[in-house]
Order: sequence, then C-alpha cells, then structure tokens
Amino acid sequence: MKFFIDTADIGEIRALCETGMVDGVTTNPTLVAKSGRNFIDSVREICTIVEGPVSAEVAATTADAMVDEGRTLAKIAQNVAVKVPLTWDGLRACRTLSELGIMVNVTLCFSANQALLAAKAGATFVSPFIGRLDDVGHDGVALIREIKQIYGNYSELSTEILAASARLPQHVTQCALAGADIITLPPAVLRQLASHPLTDKGLTQFLADWEKTGQKIL
Ligand code: E4P
Repeated sequence: MKFFIDTADIGEIRALCETGMVDGVTTNPTLVAKSGRNFIDSVREICTIVEGPVSAEVAATTADAMVDEGRTLAKIAQNVAVKVPLTWDGLRACRTLSELGIMVNVTLCFSANQALLAAKAGATFVSPFIGRLDDVGHDGVALIREIKQIYGNYSELSTEILAASARLPQHVTQCALAGADIITLPPAVLRQLASHPLTDKGLTQFLADWEKTGQKIL
C-alpha cells in the first residue's frame, strides 16, 4: 500500500519524506490556501522533493478550461497528477488529459458509480473521500470495499483507489484491509501510525534494564 501525504506545507513534506514512507503528495485548493504560498511555485517545489505523483487541482469548472489548466499544471513536472472533480465536465477532461498521457486524479468521489465512471474515463487515481462520508453518517471504508470489488470484476479497469479524507490511524488499517492501493494522510495522522503506548512503555523498560548491565554495543 502506498502512502501519500495530504498537505501543501513544504516543511512537513520535507520532514516526512525523510521517513522513507512517502510515495506521493496530494494537495487541494483548501490546503494551498492554508499554506499561504503561490500554487504553481509550491507544486514545482514539491515535485523536486517527492519522486512519486503530486496531485495539483484545477480551478476551472468546464471541461475545456480544465484541460487547458491541466496541461499547464502537467508541464510543471513529469510527476504532476492533475486533479479534476467528479463532475461530467471533470470526467470529460479526465478522458482528454489521460489520452494525452497525463496522470489524472479524479477527486470528490462519494459513490461506487462515480468511481466506475472515473475508471471508464481513464483516471489514473480515483479519490473516495472516506472521512467526509463518515462525517455525514455513512461508512467511508465500505465505499472503498465496494470500489475494490467492482474494479476487481473488470480487468480493463486499471484506476488505482486512492483513499482520501482519512482522519484516523484506524482508517489506514481499514483501507489496507479493504485493498485500497493508496491512502493519502494528513501529516499528523502519518506520524501517529508508529505510535503505541506499549511501544513507549516497553522501550523505557528495555533501556533501564540495559543500563543495569553496564555494557555498551559501541
Ligand atoms: C485528497 O486528495 C483531499 O485533498 C483530502 O484528503 C480531503 O480531506 P478532508 O476531507 O479532510 O478535507
């Protein structure tokens, strides 16, 4: 399973890439606004830090304008994945951009039928927003399971399932069990993955006992 980080914060991206666990980055207009930086400059810099796909979202809402923006974004670096919304215009833009050999991430996916359309439009990635579904009383991870089963039924569908809007470490376990190809995580959630109170407790004990031996390894 690949881990992407969901942020436009360059400092966080640099720090987390040092863990060796980051396979890509997703951004969206909200994250760009939060970073306070120029969008194009940020995407360019992120693409120099991360080898894997870096999702950059179009702002246009009509297919032709999305294609124009997507082509511009794709010129920033070879690892840019153009993010388009799951609308009919977004699907049309997805088809055109995919045919041009540009990676496309179809975002704001909230149903299995939408995911099926994204795959038929040639999306490289589809982003089901699991946390936002949970927020309104639905089961976000159940959607991942449905999409996994549907894509598995048709060998011609090669779109990767990119679980998005993850909020909790449990989402990672559940999406891995459901067979998501990728999960994109807020930096804080990625950091939480390695934490367990029994790990901390056990390490404290081991260090204290090692001290008692009076030995050194080096
Ligand atoms: C993914 O590409 C999205 O940017 C993101 O996961 C949305 O998460 P949110 O629902 O926490 O805003």
